[in-house]
Amino acid sequence: MAADSVLITGGARGLGEALVRAFHAAGWRVAVSDIDGEAAQALAQGLDPSGETALGLALDVRQAAQFEAARDAVLARWGSVEALVNNAVVTRARPVLEIDPDEFSAVVEVNLRGTFIGCQVFGRLFKASGYGRIVNIASLAGQNGGTATGAHYAASKGGIITLTKVFARDLGPAGVAVTAIAPGPLDSPAVHELVPPAQLAALVETIPVRQLGDTAFIARTAVHLAGRDAAFANGAVWDANGGLFMR
Ligand SMILES: NC(=O)c1ccc[n+]([C@@H]2O[C@H](COP(=O)([O-])OP(=O)(O)OC[C@H]3O[C@@H](n4cnc5c(N)ncnc54)[C@H](O)[C@@H]3O)[C@@H](O)[C@H]2O)c1
Repeated sequence: MAADSVLITGGARGLGEALVRAFHAAGWRVAVSDIDGEAAQALAQGLDPSGETALGLALDVRQAAQFEAARDAVLARWGSVEALVNNAVVTRARPVLEIDPDEFSAVVEVNLRGTFIGCQVFGRLFKASGYGRIVNIASLAGQNGGTATGAHYAASKGGIITLTKVFARDLGPAGVAVTAIAPGPLDSPAVHELVPPAQLAALVETIPVRQLGDTAFIARTAVHLAGRDAAFANGAVWDANGGLFMR
């Protein structure tokens, strides 16, 4: 049987890059997509210059037509696609009373609307083919309101958890499993850019395991949830936060 194929959004850097590498290392054919199409293509080229197992695509998740075009490009290249990882994000931190409504909408548009469009576009395809896996990257912020991020980011991530449940219920009977991962703060470029070092050290002290999360571990968790044997995880929100938030 040919390898399964996955499309990853926001795959050019951070957790997205870790996801790309983990799926590829696990033997998947990987479509690396990002609003920064050049960076996505560079990463795909680096993984497999022949293009046989890695494909770089420009995809702005705010645009349904671009999602459909990316889906069609993957189908044209590999004949099928079995999984989608909704990872693309804009991360903003600002006190809640200072967030301009337009900034709120801009964050929600990428994070929540982008995930909604991805689940719809690929959900239709997966439902028609009778098989598929969707892994949504949520966040601890969507469960506890956020530690280092703003209300727009946190609310969008809470919405992703809810969308995961809605799509899981709708698509489950058609052989499609929809799951989410809710990581706490990761050792990633975004966290180091967003949180000054002293504040970051203080944040780590509040985490029971006294360390930031490992993007490679989160990425391997996504590979696990996208597996052929993962049907029963449908609807799950998989926590990985060092014990910051337990439920
Ligand atoms: N970094 C963390 O500590 C952390 C913690 C919890 C959850 N997460 C989640 O992990 C995921 C990745 O986070 P990260 O920190 O690696 O982010 P990042 O900011 O480092 O990377 C995000 C990627 O998304 C791309 N992107 C932005 N807007 C886009 C759009 N409109 N369309 C397509 N791509 C777009 C960017 O170009 C970038 O490559 C996100 O869903 C985030 O919420 C991260």
